[in-house]
Amino acid sequence: MKSPRAFYAPLALGAPAPFREVPARVERMIHFVPPHNAKLRERVGEMIAQVDVILGNLEDAVPVEAKLAARQGFIDMARAHDFGATGLWTRVNALNSPWLLDDITEIVAAVGDKLDVIMLPKVEGPWDIHYLDQLLAQLEARHKLARPILIHAILETAEGVNNVMDIARASPRMHGMSLGPADLAASRAMKTTRVGGGHPDYRVLADAGSAVPRAHFQQDLWHYTIARMVDACAAQGLKAFYGPFGDFSDAEACEAQFRNAFLMGCAGAWTLHPSQIAIAKRVFSPDPAEVAFARRILAAMPDGSGAVMIDGKMQDDATWKQARVMVDLADEVARRDPELAGMYRQA
Ligand code: GLV
Ligand code: MG
Repeated sequence: MKSPRAFYAPLALGAPAPFREVPARVERMIHFVPPHNAKLRERVGEMIAQVDVILGNLEDAVPVEAKLAARQGFIDMARAHDFGATGLWTRVNALNSPWLLDDITEIVAAVGDKLDVIMLPKVEGPWDIHYLDQLLAQLEARHKLARPILIHAILETAEGVNNVMDIARASPRMHGMSLGPADLAASRAMKTTRVGGGHPDYRVLADAGSAVPRAHFQQDLWHYTIARMVDACAAQGLKAFYGPFGDFSDAEACEAQFRNAFLMGCAGAWTLHPSQIAIAKRVFSPDPAEVAFARRILAAMPDGSGAVMIDGKMQDDATWKQARVMVDLADEVARRDPELAGMYRQA
């Protein structure tokens, strides 16, 4: 294991020093753009103001014959726009693919100074992060980048889930993780054909004789993995995200999955379709009524200790900390989103 003293040392002479904390940014939706599609690439200019993160996707869903066009399209779209406070990410191809090395070297050379985060798919263990960490440090030094590029891992293999904690603490370059339910389902031999969401047959059945027909309740296939991901990320000061929800026709189910993830501790989700942007914005911005209640807790316990009753509910040091989380998030969202800022003020 590396010495703690060496953990924050740059991995190449001339590379920028790693961040000590993940930069604070509102990242409610990571909006996927297929950069080989010129029509969708043209819409990036207007999307920048609507989403928190624009991600150029080079991996799955890009046909093999379009891989190079997607890489070049990403470079073109990165050059063409000023992204302001909106994050610019790319999802590169997997480490074992024929494209990854050129994805990284060409993109960092061309637009490394604009790129915030590289999303790395199919991460199996800390060794994958170490490789990309070292490579990025060498390229940052070569291209004289002033700011380190962060790594975001997709948790989408059984091996990756087993190693989730070691992945989270592999490098100060880690930004966070996303659940990749489609690849994870395949890796685990789950008997589904979906991208995220539940399954009507994964349920708990009421006892025999309780009623006819017997009641049943669908369970959440992703609860276990999201919980592990959130704990690993929170323990290391990283951010956890729900990944994709593939049924664009079912906005209600998408909202339910995103909301469960938010309540469990996730910061955002992927939006693969424009209709999911408003859902993610609604879900991952705290509810003004909850924020108002949290502010009452903070006001009632100015030093954060002791116990008070508010509306018949006991509050103590621990609920004060929960209220702090809620209010801090609302303040961050308010800085990015004037409409919500107004709602948080009024509530
Ligand atoms: C995302 O990449 C997934 O596999 O769900
Ligand atoms: Mg995947």
